[in-house]
Amino acid sequence: MATVRLDQKYRALTRAIPDTFDRALAKFFGSGPKDIALAKEQHRAYRQALLSAGIEVSVLPADDNHPDCTFVEDQAVVIDGHVLLPVPGHPSRVNEQPPIAEFITRQLSGTKICSMHGEARMDGGDILRLGNLFFVGRSSRTNEAGIEELQDLLNHLGHELRIIDIPDHALHLTSISSTPTDKVILAPEGFLPKDAFGELPEGSSIKWMPAEEVYGCNTIGLPNGQVLVAEGYPTVLKTIEEIGLKPIVLDMSQIREADGSLTCCSIFF
Ligand code: GLY
Repeated sequence: MATVRLDQKYRALTRAIPDTFDRALAKFFGSGPKDIALAKEQHRAYRQALLSAGIEVSVLPADDNHPDCTFVEDQAVVIDGHVLLPVPGHPSRVNEQPPIAEFITRQLSGTKICSMHGEARMDGGDILRLGNLFFVGRSSRTNEAGIEELQDLLNHLGHELRIIDIPDHALHLTSISSTPTDKVILAPEGFLPKDAFGELPEGSSIKWMPAEEVYGCNTIGLPNGQVLVAEGYPTVLKTIEEIGLKPIVLDMSQIREADGSLTCCSIFF
């Protein structure tokens, strides 16, 4: 989940890989997972990496009627203890939400829950947080009305939101960027204009990675200085080490085949 600061990452919600994972939507990074057993093993290793980093990890059961159900990030947006339940941007994914919403609202009982309405559409994967500055991707999954509802919540919380247009050949903002720390953005050359993120707060910077390492730009920074990174992206790996962080490298090959990245598989709260 890309909407919580490092100091807010205590718990993560995940959801198991369904037996129907080979039918997950796949258009950008992959053409559909071929080895569901391997995908399940990769997901187990992902949860174990979070646990080893001191994160309390919960796992919801898979839903075979929803091949993309593992990608929980898209279904609930947690910001400073508030929850926004978006209407997911792909119709096949809308009914993944109820058990995730039920879990998150139970865990954060007493918190403010906002649900999107009408024509508003948004996938949580289009939101990126750098400290207290937010970015949202205007994408095939996230529309103006959805962005307005996010803007309302961020106005309430006193945080700035900047809109970034996602190119047709990318799924989400977090498919092509991440914040391994609250001061660093990783993004690939050639996908976004160099000024897409605007002027950053003092002390923050963007590390531009080679275009061919776009998938590797999705990382998960953890409070103890560890960072989950996908296997196979040497420039990303070197950059994380140069920043002084400790990479934990995970094989994501089958999850990538379903267009899923590291952040897609968890909601931090
Ligand atoms: N397979 C992830 C998505 O398209 O939403």
